Amino acid sequence: MTGSSRGIGAGIVRTLASHGARCVVNYVNDDAARNLADAKHVAAEIGAPVVECDVSDFDAVGRMIGTVVSQLGRLDILVNNAGILRDRSLRKMTPHEWDSVLRVNLTGAFNCIKHAAERLSDGGRIVSISSVNALMGFYGTANYAASKAGVIALTKTAARELAKRRITANAIAPGFIDTDMTSTLAADVKQSFLQQIPLGRWGTVDDIANAVLFLCSSAADYITGHVLHVNGGFLME
Ligand code: NAI
Repeated sequence: MTGSSRGIGAGIVRTLASHGARCVVNYVNDDAARNLADAKHVAAEIGAPVVECDVSDFDAVGRMIGTVVSQLGRLDILVNNAGILRDRSLRKMTPHEWDSVLRVNLTGAFNCIKHAAERLSDGGRIVSISSVNALMGFYGTANYAASKAGVIALTKTAARELAKRRITANAIAPGFIDTDMTSTLAADVKQSFLQQIPLGRWGTVDDIANAVLFLCSSAADYITGHVLHVNGGFLME
């Protein structure tokens, strides 16, 4: 479970653990060591090990997957959840802002799938967190929207290539979920989005965690290459 020290990732790891999965909490180092503290907190709640890894670092991801397999003995589920935002209009966006988001959100998912695929048990699961933004391209999010659209394409390819081992690969496209990532949105922007959500509320971390749980369960054995929209009806396809 990448990026599971807080937010949606922490919610997913709690939900899967409460249904019997043995999980590993992944975090990335930050200057204030906040992520480590958060990861330890989540890990203590569910009795899980913690592993540091920047998902954008190919070799580090290889070491993380090796650690997971050596600590738990097997790998059945990979959840690509780690993600960042660096919003800015196309006119102002720097190449560095473009690259940094693509590197974490898309290359990070590739790195994890690439290393995990060799180790995943037959019948295993890959779930990658995309976004409603992948299909809508909100103003100021060229890097983020492109990275999340890439995650959907990557998921479909992985689904085809791994199907012979009964490994499924699916994406979840959350709408607006109340986490640190969305906490910086202006109140009027939040209100405007809220008015466009038929179910009349923002999503919760549990709404996404329950969708991941479903895709990882045997109830979803025959679902692969799918994009599951969890957005309160904000976008209907
Ligand atoms: P968040 O900012 O609270 O959590 C993101 C997590 O990813 C953090 O734990 C962070 O430390 C970790 N992370 C960032 N860079 C990393 C790296 N290089 N290596 C390892 N971990 C890294 O955000 P939130 O809302 O929990 O988002 C989780 C996922 O859901 C992200 O992929 C995000 O794009 C996606 N998402 C979120 C939505 C929302 O409304 N909150 C909507 C649609 C998608």
